[in-house]
Amino acid sequence: FSPGKNKPFPLKMDDHPLNQRPIACCGLTCCDFITLCKGFPLEDSDQRCIDMYWQRGGNASNTSTVLALLGARTECLCTIANTREKEFLKEDFAKYAVNIENCVYLDDCTAPVSNCIINVQNGSRTILHSNKSLPEFSYKDFQKIDLKKQKYQWVHFEGRPNVPDISSMLQAIDSHNKAHPDEKIITSVELEKTRMEIVPLLDKADYVFVSKEHAQIHGYQCKEDTVEGLGTKIRDSSVIICAWGESGACAKPKHGPIVASPIFPPEGGVVDTLGAGDSFNAGVIFALSRGKMLQEAVSFGCLVAGKKCGFRGFEGLK
Ligand code: ADP
Ligand code: FRU
Repeated sequence: FSPGKNKPFPLKMDDHPLNQRPIACCGLTCCDFITLCKGFPLEDSDQRCIDMYWQRGGNASNTSTVLALLGARTECLCTIANTREKEFLKEDFAKYAVNIENCVYLDDCTAPVSNCIINVQNGSRTILHSNKSLPEFSYKDFQKIDLKKQKYQWVHFEGRPNVPDISSMLQAIDSHNKAHPDEKIITSVELEKTRMEIVPLLDKADYVFVSKEHAQIHGYQCKEDTVEGLGTKIRDSSVIICAWGESGACAKPKHGPIVASPIFPPEGGVVDTLGAGDSFNAGVIFALSRGKMLQEAVSFGCLVAGKKCGFRGFEGLK
């Protein structure tokens, strides 16, 4: 697996993009205020940084961006506050051709923002997030979507705090799949944050992404132990996937063997790891949606994430 010189990735389109069914990502969209620094700042110092800029962020938002850059028809299902940040977010979704027709715009709340300090020496990202009052995309919002009309191929959920709503949305897709087996929608869920409340989501989707940070709150110290341990809690036909920073990633079907991939370090060195995990998820989902085997999909996730770490933002994945 290595990216071609001019062709971005080795995965070819099986189909014309307009004929593909869309992939939707449900979760957070926020504004990332990024400060690019030569080194991690000293507390109470007064210094110059390399750059400061805004970027659209949030796990679901980033994953949808990367999916769109890889060539998938993509939609983001999220809430957006009716505040000054709204136009920036909408324009940026449009720039990447991410559909936001089912997003919900809300009054009387503040927009979630993250202060992200990126140290260009090692690409580390330190995130200081604030979300004071933006309601989550709810089951009620989801019920307004006509699944038969949208023809999603895949719906990916970020494990946000509204777990009962996310469970209901996944259940609604299960019911749709039972009623229309020829139009099956594949589901995935991400357990990324260090909150135990999201654990009940483990047995609610076809693919379950567990982050290193989340695995660590269960006491796991490596990706293999994570997929072995938490893999007992997924559905019989499901797959658990775990990315572990510089140790790469692995995956395991509940009753199958582990497959793993090392990282693909970017040629020019690591400059920005913000959204590496979101890019990994997008790479895995994209490869599986195009019919690739699990091993290939995990490698592709690492390839996409590794490539992303080599430049600022996501645009370079085009
Ligand atoms: P998160 O962004 O959620 O903290 P991780 O740090 O676990 O995610 O990284 C996700 C994936 O990104 C890893 O599995 C790996 O493939 C890739 N990755 C992370 N750090 C690096 C790095 N320094 N070099 C190359 N790839 C990396
Ligand atoms: C990266 C990210 C950022 C956002 C933060 C929210 O994974 O989605 O874009 O600020 O995490 O937790």
